[in-house]
Amino acid sequence: MKPYLSIENLTQRFPDGAGGELTVFEDASFGVEKGEFVVILGHSGCGKSTIMNILAGLAEPTSGGVIMDGVEVKGPSLDRGVVFQNYSLLPWLTTLKNVTFGVAARYPDWSKAKVEEHATKFLAMVGLEGDVIYRKPSQLSGGMRQRVSIARAFANHPKLLLLDEPFGALDALTRGTIQDELLKIWGQMEQTVFMITHDIDEAILLADRILLMTNGPQACVAESVEITIPRPRNRTEIVEHPNYYAIRNHLVQFLGKRSKELSGRTAVAGEINRPETVRIDKTEPQDDPEDTRPALVAVSN
Ligand SMILES: Nc1ncnc2c1ncn2[C@@H]1O[C@H](COP(=O)(O)OP(=O)(O)O)[C@@H](O)[C@H]1O
Ligand SMILES: [Mg+2]
Repeated sequence: MKPYLSIENLTQRFPDGAGGELTVFEDASFGVEKGEFVVILGHSGCGKSTIMNILAGLAEPTSGGVIMDGVEVKGPSLDRGVVFQNYSLLPWLTTLKNVTFGVAARYPDWSKAKVEEHATKFLAMVGLEGDVIYRKPSQLSGGMRQRVSIARAFANHPKLLLLDEPFGALDALTRGTIQDELLKIWGQMEQTVFMITHDIDEAILLADRILLMTNGPQACVAESVEITIPRPRNRTEIVEHPNYYAIRNHLVQFLGKRSKELSGRTAVAGEINRPETVRIDKTEPQDDPEDTRPALVAVSN
């Protein structure tokens, strides 16, 4: 059976400006299950935002396609909510109206009072309560604006929530608080999330699974790393889990070394290019003779 979201043989090429072509990625294929939180991690320029724009229906791939819940993705839709790094709020509307706007479009039968109640509930879930919801975006801090974007995205109950480096512009402390709020809201919603980041610790804290991309051009999704750390997770406690540094070292090593070594490979015609599943679990018995996974190489960092 197909996964809930199925990315099939996705290829994106752009003109390189010198009369030739730049292949960003070729024949990328992977799936995301319903309710899963999947993070894609890779260096700048490898094509993460390009994949996100295709999933959002904002861009068309050169070839290949995306099937969500049995239907091919074509053009933008309320089924897919997007949160970008730069908040993209409507500056002339209040915080509350920035949220009710989408909710009213999604649920046209709802009364104004019901729409407002729903929007207010989601704003409260990210810590925005009281007078602040009547302020315009220009009167809010960067962290508050990003909270509004997150509340707006969740309030619409999209089938798929896409987050493109949503915390990239925030200072570390604010980022930490909003990551916690995102985890809390996601935990209550069974929302399918696909998020881009280049922050390893953020990825481990949030994800069920991390997709690792090699460097561009000609990037591929090389690995799918399971985050074998139980939820609920908490940033101060997860570092104590026996799997935390083992997973982190694997990711650091990939980004530092293997993302370069594995890049530039051309796809083999007719072969499906799925990422290799990596499961690191130090809590499992280690003397399993069936276990043929390569030993982890520790890196210092
Ligand atoms: N519309 C476009 N036209 C030409 N090249 C593009 C376009 N969009 C992205 N690119 C190129 O594709 C590559 C991947 O970009 P992007 O997806 O933004 O990377 P990331 O989000 O991983 O940093 C980059 O080399 C970028 O210059
Ligand atoms: Mg990007």
